[in-house]
Amino acid sequence: MEDAQVGPLDLAARVDEALAVQAVAFGLTDDEVGVRRHIVLRHAAAPGVRALGATTPRGRLIGFVYGMPNDRTQWWSTVVEPYLRRNGNAGWLDDAFVITELHVHPAYQKHGIGRELITTITDTAAEPRSILSAIDTESPARALYRSLGYRDLARHVLFPSAGSPYAVMGAPLPLRR
Ligand SMILES: CC(C)(COP(=O)(O)OP(=O)(O)OC[C@H]1O[C@@H](n2cnc3c(N)ncnc32)[C@H](O)[C@@H]1OP(=O)(O)O)[C@@H](O)C(=O)NCCC(=O)NCCS
Repeated sequence: MEDAQVGPLDLAARVDEALAVQAVAFGLTDDEVGVRRHIVLRHAAAPGVRALGATTPRGRLIGFVYGMPNDRTQWWSTVVEPYLRRNGNAGWLDDAFVITELHVHPAYQKHGIGRELITTITDTAAEPRSILSAIDTESPARALYRSLGYRDLARHVLFPSAGSPYAVMGAPLPLRR
């Protein structure tokens, strides 16, 4: 396998490559890719958004992460807020860097790329903590997040239109190694 290099990613310019990775890693239909495309382009213009890509020596994008400072007025935050509040965790929505997406192409998984992407992007965050949502099962993603110090802030979180319940997780920054 060729070595992948992690570096800054122009999310708007490479949205189709990023969604192609997400489609095989996470499983997206063509219709879902179309919907996500608009969302990613909107996120790419959000204040404080940052993205990193993992690229092969030939320039093929095989993984990416992006996130932004949490904004309580944003859709994601308004959905998770009542769940966090119920657990006394709503304060996590302030001064937090949100990991919006993290995906590695299946052919390149389990080589440390996912870990490098999320630790590198959070290491340069100004916020003292990070939050994210992940499907509420014992997935590789959940194992990775736990190993980095993320803990469950709420479980069984239902996003309108999403088929599966999610867990919201939070970790102090810098992430634990
Ligand atoms: C989550 C994901 C990005 C991890 O990327 P990756 O490059 O394979 O991860 P790494 O090689 O850096 O592995 C880091 C840790 O993840 C966990 N992990 C990775 N693959 C795993 C697996 N098959 N089973 C259990 N844990 C696993 C381990 O804790 C691992 O740490 P270790 O290597 O010290 O054991 C990748 O599995 C993926 O794209 N999954 C599908 C999309 C997805 O679920 N994204 C997250 C949405 S919230």
